[in-house]
Amino acid sequence: MSFRLNGVGLTHANGFAALKGITLLAEKGERIALIGPSGAGKTSLLSVLGTALEPTDGLAEVFEFDQNFWDTSAIKALRARIGTVHQSPPIPGRQRVVTAVLAGKLGQWPAWKSLASLVYPLDIPGARAALERVDLADKLFARCDELSGGQLQRVGIARVLYQQPELILADEPVSALDPALALATIRLLTADAEACGATLVASLHAVDLALGNFPRIVGVKAGRIAFDLPSERVTVPMLHELYASEGEQLPIQAHEPHFLSQAPANDAATRAKCC
Ligand SMILES: Nc1ncnc2c1ncn2[C@@H]1O[C@H](COP(=O)(O)OP(=O)(O)O)[C@@H](O)[C@H]1O
Ligand SMILES: [Mg+2]
Repeated sequence: MSFRLNGVGLTHANGFAALKGITLLAEKGERIALIGPSGAGKTSLLSVLGTALEPTDGLAEVFEFDQNFWDTSAIKALRARIGTVHQSPPIPGRQRVVTAVLAGKLGQWPAWKSLASLVYPLDIPGARAALERVDLADKLFARCDELSGGQLQRVGIARVLYQQPELILADEPVSALDPALALATIRLLTADAEACGATLVASLHAVDLALGNFPRIVGVKAGRIAFDLPSERVTVPMLHELYASEGEQLPIQAHEPHFLSQAPANDAATRAKCC
């Protein structure tokens, strides 16, 4: 088991219930896409899985630790096993790209090594190899504030490739990339997770990216799980229902314009295939 949420609710300090009764279990090595309209609770769900937010109802377990252990020294070791890719990576602008990538292993290294690496990068070949995979090796010594939003997202992905965590949590990891690069980057992330036996949970705006690259799809709506299905069983009507609050158009990538729009909306047998 990688994680288990049992009846998890999350009510924010202002009283807003962002998650309600979420029950979700992932075995080690599963690749899961979270889809759903803006405000559905995808980021909140990833924050609970990353142990950044503690549920206010129910029980969350990540690896072998339930939330009752999250305020002990165990949490540092726990978080070293989790890699997070943020939509807008929280990387200090003045930091060099090499240091940002090496930061992926700070939680795994002893304190002396982490400190030393901040002063002088200790594993430059490792950082370069990770950056090569996202086609950014030439930016190894660039400052992060010299990069575009899309390049920064790829640095965030290189960091997690370098970290090699057991659980990867990616929150709209390719939202700043053009469709072709987004597809290539998602394929890289899913292939790496598969090769390493890591569990991957990614929230994605484009449903075709989700359906084409993830075996399991979790639809989230208004803080609840609307469906949790193998991707081949997700139908076009289910997607329209999920995104009903966002109008007629489903959020898809531009380079696959016909795959959903030509499907008859009421044909339950129609499979939302893509890519
Ligand atoms: N810190 C917070 N305080 C109050 N409400 C919040 C907070 N964070 C998120 N929310 C609300 O919780 C809901 C779910 O947000 P979020 O998890 O970011 O959704 P998504 O990632 O699917 O867009 C939204 O209505 C959002 O406004
Ligand atoms: Mg979000």
